[in-house]
Amino acid sequence: MTADPELIVFEGTEPLCRAATEALVQQLLVAAAARGVCSLVLSGGMTPRGAYTLLAAETRLDWARVHVFWGDERNVPPDHPDSNFRMAYETLVSKVPIPPGNIHRVLTEGSNAERAATQYEDVIRTFFSLTAGEFPRSDVVLLGLGTDGHTASLFPGSPLLNEQRRIVAAVRVDRLNSTRITLTPPAINHSACVMFLVSGGTKAEALRAALREPSDPQQRPAQAIRPTSGRLIFMVDAEAASLL
Ligand code: 6PG
Repeated sequence: MTADPELIVFEGTEPLCRAATEALVQQLLVAAAARGVCSLVLSGGMTPRGAYTLLAAETRLDWARVHVFWGDERNVPPDHPDSNFRMAYETLVSKVPIPPGNIHRVLTEGSNAERAATQYEDVIRTFFSLTAGEFPRSDVVLLGLGTDGHTASLFPGSPLLNEQRRIVAAVRVDRLNSTRITLTPPAINHSACVMFLVSGGTKAEALRAALREPSDPQQRPAQAIRPTSGRLIFMVDAEAASLL
């Protein structure tokens, strides 16, 4: 049963990141206690930086039980300034005692994004022991929201918004002159908890549309994210919520 989105508004980015960190730590602790291992899918962009920095100082997690993935990646080398892996590595991954085998980044060293997507899908299928047609049940997926309403690398008008089979796909985003590798909507929607982190007045219209306009994922990709049996939480600051 698809739960309605939970909306939590914070006065500023700092309390938003503090609350987001606490919420995702709680989800991971419960999952690790239940299954001995848990999975955290990191978002790209700049908004989650504050949460990653707080998470790096978290002492309650047994990082040997935490596996990190990325919801999307730019098709650039891992040390490139635009790399989502690099941002998370610098703010979180390099600062916690997580075993290298628990870090599942998209292997973007080659220039072939399709191959990187296929390889990443294989990594996910193996980690989650998926058979054909199954999707991963990540414990926590962090997502951002673009000013155009995109999330992960699911952009308005993208054919991936109708994807029902693949877990990971490569996509060219011409207007950003960027090639991306991204989880697909079904890959995200099988998660136990999807958490949007949205901050700043520039996101106010995109957030309003995503939460208040009729469902039209082609126009409003964030509306494609509706966990089939998980929590959907929008953690936003007052500026982003100013049009709600
Ligand atoms: C990316 C992200 C993307 C991001 C939004 C918001 O690779 O850029 O996955 O979906 O979350 O663009 O980005 P900001 O947090 O930087 O505003």
